[in-house]
Amino acid sequence: MGQSRVLVTGHKGFIGAWTVQLLCQAGWTVFGLDDESSYGERLYDAAGMKSMLAGELTSDVSDLQMTQTWIEQIGPELIIHLAGQAIVPRAFKQPYLTFKSNALGTLAILEAARLTPCVRAVMCITSDKVYENNNNGQAFSEPDMLGGSDIYSVSKSGAELIAKAYNASHCGNGSPNIQTIRLGNVVGGGDWAVNRLIPDLIHAARSGGDFRVRYMDATRPFQHVSDVVNGISKIASAALNGQLRSGEAWNLGPRNNSFAKVRDVIDLFKRYYPNLSVIDSEEKIKEDLNLRVDVAKYSDQFSPPVFDSMEGVERAIRWYQSFYAGTSPIDLVRADLSLLG
Ligand SMILES: NC(=O)c1ccc[n+]([C@@H]2O[C@H](COP(=O)([O-])OP(=O)(O)OC[C@H]3O[C@@H](n4cnc5c(N)ncnc54)[C@H](O)[C@@H]3O)[C@@H](O)[C@H]2O)c1
Repeated sequence: MGQSRVLVTGHKGFIGAWTVQLLCQAGWTVFGLDDESSYGERLYDAAGMKSMLAGELTSDVSDLQMTQTWIEQIGPELIIHLAGQAIVPRAFKQPYLTFKSNALGTLAILEAARLTPCVRAVMCITSDKVYENNNNGQAFSEPDMLGGSDIYSVSKSGAELIAKAYNASHCGNGSPNIQTIRLGNVVGGGDWAVNRLIPDLIHAARSGGDFRVRYMDATRPFQHVSDVVNGISKIASAALNGQLRSGEAWNLGPRNNSFAKVRDVIDLFKRYYPNLSVIDSEEKIKEDLNLRVDVAKYSDQFSPPVFDSMEGVERAIRWYQSFYAGTSPIDLVRADLSLLG
């Protein structure tokens, strides 16, 4: 990617921080927008990432007027839209906030981008939970039907439909190239969100408390965050270079369409933290238990992801071990990104 300006929404979040680092390394002038509504410690703070930014705004992305004014002020060529309420159990407790952030936030970004001529491409980050899932274990491909039976899933499939409508209504009239990018379960260092598998395991292991598992046999496409930010950056470059038509959707996931059970992740984790205590959680939410994605489209057009599911998980565990042994978080992020080649 070039020397120009990019807006990363949700830049204070887990994936946002890794995205900021990759884009700064590539020479981009990076701006942020985040309302600081997520819970837990942040890699953004631990790694002192504020100093890497050309500017940032603390605001709710779904506030169209604020978002549009900020975009007009900073004049980005590219928007990577990561801001959203990303925690599935929180969506059960705060459905309105989740839908507003995820679906209306995407609407506000696309509308503000449409009205600001300098914006040439928008990457909308959604989830593998956008698919209508009958839990039969099939690996979802991009043309599969959108759906969802919980608010998190519907907020993300809603974002996909909004992007589709914007593309259908405005594509070709000087409006930006829109790509939607569907992520699996992203793992990697510097995620301290509450109610996520790896951060919860790290927290339990370090505090000596119990890890409460919701569904031991749930399967997920665990993917390393370095593959994710690399994928977003490649798709964005191709969109800006005119190699992709607007309105494409992309699954990003682990190498070989791999996946792992929660049980496999816990077993691996116990090799590093043998004293970890695991108990069954009484708080079961109605979530899809089988999720797999097919990443053939991305792999064929660009290159296959570097890490499979268990390699990604192990790399994440090692990141935390090195971090708590005193290694600088930004050095650890750079080291993981350097493995992408
Ligand atoms: N981490 C994963 O496994 C995963 C999987 C699939 C999709 N995603 C999606 O990727 C994106 C980034 O996820 P993450 O893991 O970095 O989550 P995160 O919670 O660490 O980061 C999200 C960031 O967005 C900000 N935010 C939330 N609502 C906002 C709003 N209305 N306005 C402005 N900022 C807002 C939060 O403060 C936070 O800093 C999210 O859209 C998420 O749904 C993540």
